[in-house]
Amino acid sequence: MHDFLYRNSELYAEGVPVRRIAEKVGTPLYIYSHKTLLRHIRAYQGAFDGHPHIVCFALKANSNPAILRVFAQNGFGADVVSGGELFLALRAGIPPRRIVYAGVGKTREEITYALKSRILMFNVESPDELKFIDSIAGDLGLKAPIALRVNPDIDPRTHPYISTGLRKNKFGIPIEDAIENYLIARRLQNVEILGIHKHIGSQITDLRPFVDALKRVIILADDLRRHGIEIKHLDIGGGLGISYKGDEAPPEPGELSKAILPIIRGYGFNLILEPGRSITGNAGIFVTRVLYLKSQKGKTFVIVDGGMNDLLRPSLYNAYHEIIPVRRHRRRRIVADIVGPICESGDFLARERELPRPERGEFLAVMSAGAYGFTMSSNYNSRPRPAEVLVKGNRFYVIRERESYRDLIKGVKVPDFLR
Ligand code: LLP
Repeated sequence: MHDFLYRNSELYAEGVPVRRIAEKVGTPLYIYSHKTLLRHIRAYQGAFDGHPHIVCFALKANSNPAILRVFAQNGFGADVVSGGELFLALRAGIPPRRIVYAGVGKTREEITYALKSRILMFNVESPDELKFIDSIAGDLGLKAPIALRVNPDIDPRTHPYISTGLRKNKFGIPIEDAIENYLIARRLQNVEILGIHKHIGSQITDLRPFVDALKRVIILADDLRRHGIEIKHLDIGGGLGISYKGDEAPPEPGELSKAILPIIRGYGFNLILEPGRSITGNAGIFVTRVLYLKSQKGKTFVIVDGGMNDLLRPSLYNAYHEIIPVRRHRRRRIVADIVGPICESGDFLARERELPRPERGEFLAVMSAGAYGFTMSSNYNSRPRPAEVLVKGNRFYVIRERESYRDLIKGVKVPDFLR
């Protein structure tokens, strides 16, 4: 459910016409709805109420500082995968005791930063990393709180680029090697074992893989207990899917909790969840302006001012995003590729898409773009990155200005011999 709806043929973000924002701020542009965000935040809170838990929003989905403030104000934690994300989470006011840190390639600087910040725990992805964290913690005279990220070898039945819980993926430690690694961890002087972490993939639209993976993890927790290792935090990752086309029926947080809480009842775990997409995905749209129409050899292209550098998901995953006119009209429908200005054939927002024939200058809204939209944007083709706007009720707020050409040369230095 979201709050981008038509009123009298005009698309609104909550109480504000999208066209008004686009004309004022320019395009391409991301627009988020505060109301939708809050609704999704509350859905998670309500679903796990009554069981000790922390919802750690996965910053990789959306790390705009204003958006992060909404999470901080609502008691959320953060799932971070880099020093940069840790910095943004802390700066937004998310307490370090609610921050977990995953990622296969944590550097010395990042580990040091996280240790000094006193985060809740590291989700450790390899034996090498475990030893490295131990030695850095030793140097600092600190004890590193850790969970091992285990790979339960469960197929999440999602796009191969975003499935992580299979043996062939680079993530985590194979679950059958977990005990051995927990025993190694126990012998290390400077780490404290606090949890188990798993995350099997993203855009999962079925409860089955969550349940199957969790059952494997519970067997591991039982085994660990027999070895005298008590697990305090059970981190089940993120991954709940959203509806992109309208015909998917991804489970709601409430259904997820109904499926998993009975499995962990009686264990006394503090449950950690790391949702990203299911919170911000449908809370954001990407707005782009039609520049040209071009028909050749039986094919029509709608050329827009937003490209793969702004919204990469269609190009990278062949992902489907619904695209609708900001001002609804009754012109005849055409089938077209909606493409950006980037000099790559892979630069498209949609292929072979049926839509009412747009005209030059009109705005199109690309739906469900609030997760992995702006965060995956780049300056490719030396394009300044888009602006971001947050709508609340009848008001809108620019929460990130559009980059300028000046930003393209920030930090750049030309050596003397080239002057
Ligand atoms: N926790 C961990 C350890 C993760 O790796 C991820 C996502 C999440 C949580 C959040 O997953 P979510 O709830 O958002 O599904 N760029 C891709 C998605 C990559 C997901 C990477 N990991 C896309 O645009 O579909």
